[in-house]
Amino acid sequence: MGGGRARFEAYLRKAGFEGARVLSFEALGGEIQEDLKAHGYGSPVRARFAWKGEERDVVIRTARPDAFGHDRRADRVYQMALAVDTYRRIPRHVQALDAGTFDLNGAMIPFAEGEPFLIAEYVPGELYAHDLKAIERADEPGARDLIRAEVLASYLADLHSVHATHVDYQRCIRDTLGHGEGIFGITDAYPDDMPVVPQLRLRQLEHACVEWRWKLKAFTHRSRRTHGDFHPFNLLFREPAELSVLDCSRGGVGEPADDVACLSINFLFFALVAGGASTARSGASGTCSGTATCSAPRTTRSCRWWRRSSPGGPSCSPARPGTRRSRTRCETASSASRSASWPAPPSIHTG
Ligand SMILES: Nc1ncnc2c1ncn2[C@@H]1O[C@H](COP(=O)(O)OP(=O)(O)OP(=O)(O)O)[C@@H](O)[C@H]1O
Ligand SMILES: [Mg+2]
Repeated sequence: MGGGRARFEAYLRKAGFEGARVLSFEALGGEIQEDLKAHGYGSPVRARFAWKGEERDVVIRTARPDAFGHDRRADRVYQMALAVDTYRRIPRHVQALDAGTFDLNGAMIPFAEGEPFLIAEYVPGELYAHDLKAIERADEPGARDLIRAEVLASYLADLHSVHATHVDYQRCIRDTLGHGEGIFGITDAYPDDMPVVPQLRLRQLEHACVEWRWKLKAFTHRSRRTHGDFHPFNLLFREPAELSVLDCSRGGVGEPADDVACLSINFLFFALVAGGASTARSGASGTCSGTATCSAPRTTRSCRWWRRSSPGGPSCSPARPGTRRSRTRCETASSASRSASWPAPPSIHTG
C-alpha cells in the first residue's frame, strides 16, 4: 500500500473513523494514484474509503505555492481555514469536512476548531518607546541614547544584508497598499466625516500611492529580509544596549526602507507630541503637521504607530483625552485643522 493511503488511514483513525480502509486514491482529472505524494501538492485527490460497512467518498485538497498571494505557507493555511469557515455558508456548496497540515513526515494533522494562538518566548527588557519618552524631557540625547541608536542602525544593516526574492518584494509592495493593515485599510478606517482628513484627501493619497506602486514594484533588486513593523513598541532593550525585537510582520521580507522609515518617523512623532504639534508644524514646512504622516506612504508603507497616532485615525476620541494614543492623535488633529491647505500628494520621482 502506498504511503499516502497509509497516512490517510492513520488520519481517518484520529478523525474518528476507526477501522476505515482506503479503497482508492484517484487524482481528479488524472490517473489512479497509489501515493498522495507522488501526485504532488496542488491537485485534488479523490479518496474512497470503507467504514462500518459504508462507503465514503471525499476529496483531499492541497495548495501549491504560487505568486498570486499563495507564496507563503501561511497563505495556504489561510486558504484552507477560509474554506472551512465559508463553504458551509454558501448554498449548494460542497462541504468542507476538515482541514489540517501535513507534518514533515507526511502525517496529516487536523486543525482544531476555534481561534488560532501563538506561544512565544518571553524576553525581559524595557520598550524603546520609554527611551523616546525620556528624551522628550532632556535637552539632548545622552550617551546611552546614541549607543542604542547605533545598535538599532547596525541591527537593520545586518538584517537588510540578506537578499530576498522578486516575488517577496512585489508581495510586500502590494500588501503595503492592499492589505487591511496597509494603506487601503488605513484610509478605510477614517470616519467619513472627519474634517481634518476629508475623503477627497484620502482618495488623492490612495491614487498617489497606486502610482508609487507601479514605480516601486520594478525595484525588485531591493528585496531584503525585513522586520516589517519596526516601531518603538516592538523593540526591547536590556541594559545597556542589548536588543530584542518583537512582532516581525508580513512575511519578514520586502523593502528595507520600510523598517528605516517606520522607526525614524517615530522620532518625529515623539518630538511632535513633546514639543506640541503646532510648533513642529511651523518648523517643518509651514503647512500641516501631517508632513510626517503624508510622507509615510512615500516610504513604502506607514508604520502602525503612524496609523494609531495619525490625525483622526480610526479611534480618535476627543472624549477620551489623556491616554497616550488618543492624546497624540487628537493634538495632531487639532493643529492640522488649523492648517490652511493640505500639501500636494507625493509626486513620483523618476530617478
Ligand atoms: N514575547 C514578549 N516578550 C516580552 N514582552 C512582550 C512579548 N510580547 C509582547 N510583549 C509586551 O507586550 C506589549 C504589547 O504587545 P503587542 O504586540 O500586543 O502591542 P504593540 O507592540 O503595541 O502593537 P503591534 O505590535 O501589534 O503593533 C509589547 O510592547 C511588549 O511590551
Ligand atoms: Mg507588538
